[in-house]
Amino acid sequence: VAGDPEKGEKEFRKCKSCHMVVSDSGEEIVKGGKTGPNLYGVVGRTAGTADFKYGDSLVEAGEKGLVWNEENFVAYTEDPRGFLKEYLDDTGAKSKMSFKLRKGAEDVYAYLESVAE
Ligand code: HEM
Repeated sequence: VAGDPEKGEKEFRKCKSCHMVVSDSGEEIVKGGKTGPNLYGVVGRTAGTADFKYGDSLVEAGEKGLVWNEENFVAYTEDPRGFLKEYLDDTGAKSKMSFKLRKGAEDVYAYLESVAE
């Protein structure tokens, strides 16, 4: 099921307190906070690899091959810590992102995919 990028753009309001979307050339697509990593180009990116001080669990997941495809992105944004626990098979896994998106994650994914093209 493909998400709707226009809905996703509206949903991204919930993310921008912590996440900016700034292109490699410095274009501010979404002026956002610095609590979380820049989400420009996050689609297809290995987890934990932007210029940001990530938590150990997310870095470990990236080292184990976690890539932000739609399935992983949706599951992660719905429950970041739960996702990392399951992915790493470690009940002690931690997440620096505690926010949980209850619905519309596939729309946000479609939006982020559309702005990075
Ligand atoms: C990490 C998405 C809302 C704080 C991430 C990552 C994604 C993501 C995909 C991993 C990025 C990477 O590997 O480079 C989203 C989306 C949101 C949202 C789609 C809204 C629907 C928030 C909010 C906060 C936040 C509201 C702060 C209150 C963080 C932090 C990390 C992170 C601190 C790093 C996690 C770690 O190192 O363990 N987010 N996020 N996010 N996000 Fe969010």
